[in-house]
Amino acid sequence: MRRTIWLEDDESVCILDQTALPLREECVRLKTLAEIARAIEVMQVRGAPLIGVTAAYGVAVGLREAASPTAANLNTIRRTLVATRPTAVNLRWAVDRVIRRVAEHPTSSWVDIAFKEAHAIAEEDVAASRSIGEHGADLLETLYRNKEARTLRILTHCNAGFLATVTWGTALAPLYVLKERGIPLHVWVDETRPRNQGYLTAWELSQEGISNTVIVDNAGGHFMQRGEVDAVIVGSDRTTRRGDVCNKIGTLLKALAARAYGIPFYVALPSSTFDLSIESGSEIEIEERDPSEVHSLGFSTARNPAFDVTEAHLVTALITERGVFAANEETLVAAFGSTSPSP
Ligand code: MRU
Repeated sequence: MRRTIWLEDDESVCILDQTALPLREECVRLKTLAEIARAIEVMQVRGAPLIGVTAAYGVAVGLREAASPTAANLNTIRRTLVATRPTAVNLRWAVDRVIRRVAEHPTSSWVDIAFKEAHAIAEEDVAASRSIGEHGADLLETLYRNKEARTLRILTHCNAGFLATVTWGTALAPLYVLKERGIPLHVWVDETRPRNQGYLTAWELSQEGISNTVIVDNAGGHFMQRGEVDAVIVGSDRTTRRGDVCNKIGTLLKALAARAYGIPFYVALPSSTFDLSIESGSEIEIEERDPSEVHSLGFSTARNPAFDVTEAHLVTALITERGVFAANEETLVAAFGSTSPSP
């Protein structure tokens, strides 16, 4: 399994360029705040946890660029990074965590402290993803044993695998653990127009030896109706205190179809993806990307919302690094209220 972000020469933040994958495996070295902000904006790095980690390193790199950094530099760095992508809360959470940490120390140590904190966020992400994998695998293994299915058939949308995190992933982490446990699996991979993150999912599943089939985004309902899907599992870019899940555009339709056919719909996320400061998904800013990603036919306009909100009542359970939780306010505030970021 690959690591998606690492430091080289104590100078460069290296990433796997996700705009080149799955055709080419290329690493990009990022040395300036502008390069890091651009990498997030153009989606060379993507996926809520990974953009959080990248932005955390962005604070450190930005401070290093300012010869003797001040509070004004911190504000500029924050503004630059937060402006890159608005929906995934992990980005803002990670930037603010690093800024809070450096502010406790004299300015002369800010660069060191910022790199250490970014590194801690990265390592915590690895541990959280692995733990999501274990909890999710327990849940899915029970489903597999109860169904006495010969192969567990999972549908996923977008990419919430190791490419979306530092390693392991969120929605795909349980599948990697199930593979280790010897449970036979097949994954239906939504193509995920317009950016086709499904190809990244298919690529990484294939790398890890997990059988998978790419399907067009409209095919999920068809396979569910025919009884060929045992569970749906997706990631999240932001989940509210009542359990509304914001994730890649098209997730909502999969949740609705799953509900119609009595198929469990699971969401896997680290606690850094909770935004308990808001109740409803309608309060989340949905990133609207360039319409040219949708079409360039010239005779019509296009809209390109990148995310949608699946209301809590459609979510069977939330799989986190601390275990599996019901998607409702009472449960989430009790479990995450004291530790979750409040942006
Ligand atoms: O626009 P992207 O590719 O950054 O969107 C990513 C997703 O929607 C993922 O499913 C989500 O971030 C969960 S990632 C672990």
